[in-house]
Amino acid sequence: MNKSKKRVLVTGGTGYIGSHTTVELINAGYEPIIIDNLSNSSIEVLDNIEKITGIKPSFEQFDITDLKKLEAFFEKYSEIEAIIHFAANKAVGESVQKPLMYYHNNLVTLINLLKCQLKYNVPNIVFSSSCTVYGQPEKLPVTEQTPKQEAESPYGNTKQVNEEILIDTIKANPNIHGIALRYFNPIGAHPTALIGELPLGVPNCLVPFLTQTVAGIREQLSVFGSDYNTPDGTAIRDYINVVDLSKAHVIAIERLIENKGKSNFEIFNLGTGNGLSVLDIVNGFEKATGIKVNHKIVDRRAGDVEQIWANTSYANQELGWKAETSIEATLLSAWNWEKNIRGIK
Ligand code: NAD
Ligand code: WQD
Repeated sequence: MNKSKKRVLVTGGTGYIGSHTTVELINAGYEPIIIDNLSNSSIEVLDNIEKITGIKPSFEQFDITDLKKLEAFFEKYSEIEAIIHFAANKAVGESVQKPLMYYHNNLVTLINLLKCQLKYNVPNIVFSSSCTVYGQPEKLPVTEQTPKQEAESPYGNTKQVNEEILIDTIKANPNIHGIALRYFNPIGAHPTALIGELPLGVPNCLVPFLTQTVAGIREQLSVFGSDYNTPDGTAIRDYINVVDLSKAHVIAIERLIENKGKSNFEIFNLGTGNGLSVLDIVNGFEKATGIKVNHKIVDRRAGDVEQIWANTSYANQELGWKAETSIEATLLSAWNWEKNIRGIK
């Protein structure tokens, strides 16, 4: 072990947000150690992290729901200063079909990690939460105090319950400190185009579906609904660049390790503070790349909220963090990533 570098366990570290955060941790001088069962990512990500940073992070492949294996991990790696817990199943629609799979994976992984934090004295945890906890809020933009709404899906409910599990565990064990980061809509890829999002099958999310359409894998992008109460009638979200998002994790880790928090458990919204419509994304992509997006307006998608974007003042003030990348640069990075994985020149 490199004694001068602080060790951070990154669960789900070969996944989309985990791989970008691993790069930022290495850039900031930390020693990330990844656990991933590769259920939704590939081992080649490690080589690409090495190409970007010059360092190949330590990697252990196993399922975090297996407590024995997790304990063996903590026996092997001592002096871990913090955990960033990304590992989870994240497909909203699939969670409606397979609720037990989602409750098991998303709850047991966190419970096992907290058990090990207590047993092996790991003081800090950052948890990946989501704007899904707000549902359709009455007032916009949403602050961290905006009331949560009943979850629309088992996936969304796992995020709410996970936050409760963290609150109760930290209340009972003041030696553990935690931060929950509520991401809005993470998009884009690393500017090197070496890491990015790898959706399995037909993407549900807007930007991967859009880039696959432009790459010729999908025939046409369906814009779900044009009769919302928004300026152009299409739904509004807060799209946050994945590298900007990842940088906030490094700041959160530093805040925990240096004990700078206002309380033992804190929550931060991570978004840009700007709401963009589906058509803004289509137009932004066309402007950034000069390529037309074949799209048509269809009916609303069941379960979609009309509009949501973040009030990011708390993260701006307390973390000294702000999203910096323009939407055009972010959409261009998503396209460069799509081109790279499809071998398009
Ligand atoms: P991802 O699927 O790309 O990454 C998650 C990784 O965790 C994958 O590599 C997967 O193989 C691994 N994993 C899952 N279950 C595991 C287990 N039991 N043991 C070990 N590894 C396991 O997802 P992502 O987009 O990077 O999301 C990361 C986190 O952020 C998730 O908790 C997700 O719910 C949350 N989040 C994501 C978004 C988004 O739109 N991408 C938005 C809000 C919150
Ligand atoms: C964005 C907008 C769609 C696809 C999901 C999860 C949420 C969080 C982030 C994890 C919506 C529209 C989409 C398409 C479209 N994940 N759209 N055509 O639904 O805001 O959030 O990811 O926590 O929990 O629900 O993201 O990218 O699916 O949709 O018109 O083919 O794009 O209707 O308005 P969403 P999204």
